[in-house]
Amino acid sequence: MKILTVGGGGREHAIITALSRSPQVDKLYAAPGNGGISTLAECFPVKATDIEGITELAKKLNPDYVFVAPDDPLVLGMVDKLNEAGFKTFGPKANAAILEGSKVFSKALMKKYGIPTAEYETFTDADKAIAYIKEKNSYPAVIKCDGLALGKGVIIAEDFEQAENAVKSMLLDGKFGKSGSEIVIEEYLTGPEVTVLAFTDGKTVKPMISSMDHKRAYDNDKGLNTGGMGTIAPNPLYTPEKQAECMEKIFLPTIKAMEKEGRPFKGCLYFGLMLTPKGAKVIEYNCRFGDPETQVVLPLLETDLVDIMEAIWEERLAELEVKWSDKACACVVMASGGYPEKYETGKEIGGLDEKGQCVADDTDAYVYHAGTKLDNGKFLTAGGRVLGVTSTADTLKEALDKSYAAVKSITFEKAHYRTDIGKKAL
Ligand code: AMP
Ligand code: GLY
Repeated sequence: MKILTVGGGGREHAIITALSRSPQVDKLYAAPGNGGISTLAECFPVKATDIEGITELAKKLNPDYVFVAPDDPLVLGMVDKLNEAGFKTFGPKANAAILEGSKVFSKALMKKYGIPTAEYETFTDADKAIAYIKEKNSYPAVIKCDGLALGKGVIIAEDFEQAENAVKSMLLDGKFGKSGSEIVIEEYLTGPEVTVLAFTDGKTVKPMISSMDHKRAYDNDKGLNTGGMGTIAPNPLYTPEKQAECMEKIFLPTIKAMEKEGRPFKGCLYFGLMLTPKGAKVIEYNCRFGDPETQVVLPLLETDLVDIMEAIWEERLAELEVKWSDKACACVVMASGGYPEKYETGKEIGGLDEKGQCVADDTDAYVYHAGTKLDNGKFLTAGGRVLGVTSTADTLKEALDKSYAAVKSITFEKAHYRTDIGKKAL
């Protein structure tokens, strides 16, 4: 089997690594891929958002499946286009990817089907939005862009002034372009956050092992929101009782609602959950694997990912048993100094062998490449998040110790990482 994966981050490296473990796979391709991915897959310099370019590439390579991993091509309809061209795919069509592509859509869906989420109102008019904030007079106030905004479209305003500025930046100044032309203002929720990724073929939903992301840039959840600075799986706060509650009140109702709306969701659905004192609530849906959640979830998958991909495509996920290891996994992200704001790239990475893995032989961590490129046999930094150093072990503590030992053996100028990944879970 030949598989083309679209994307070029740590998540895609983890997906391609899982695919490479399948005895059914003969050849892996990636577009655009990255330095680490190029050790497993032949990479082609086509942007993940270039629907025409990827479709042309697929026609040239003729893969058995195209795995579309990132949000933007999914929301833009890459799967629809590839299916029209006769290719089998992993990932939802645009009419289902809208669960992530429009918060106005996803909030309305949850309201209509009674799926627990924060109370909210939507606005296109700044004066009305500001009047609503004044009337509610409850802070923090949560203000969200309707559309995709590289993870930056959510503002937690601590007071009226911040809330007013957020509304103005979105609705009047066009800071987020079309994504911010409609906004959601919602109730502030409290409680631990849990990520649950789930395989679904549109009818059946099979949740994966839960995980915990660390979104803020610095230790003790200080600093700006990032794409995620590290993850652990499973998330110990997600107890069997919570799992049962989420299955009954959130996962199944969401899949059924999408089917009923004529928008069956096929692929990986990301549930961003808050375990509030009043029960689990949805903070957000994403239409794809999480990054860096995938880096800790897929290493625990024992079933062949290719079998799952085929079962989803053929809509027979109900028949397939998806098995998980009972070990723990931890991923520590090494980022470029300054990320998520300004940072430099092109720095040589020390401590990696020719496969992009740790040379220190006392660590068996796996290094997922997020933002690297291979240049004349040397790995260079090429993004904000550079590496996701990941270990699997019998306990979370051991997995974290192994990952941190490996992190210490890898060097690049101004490297930054959090030192408290998984601490809350120990
Ligand atoms: P998102 O980009 O939608 O994942 O939101 C970024 C982060 O903002 C989430 O991981 C939460 O920590 C926080 N957040 C989003 N919505 C709410 C809410 N209604 N209440 C409290 N925190 C929220
Ligand atoms: N780690 C958060 C996300 O993938 O959206």
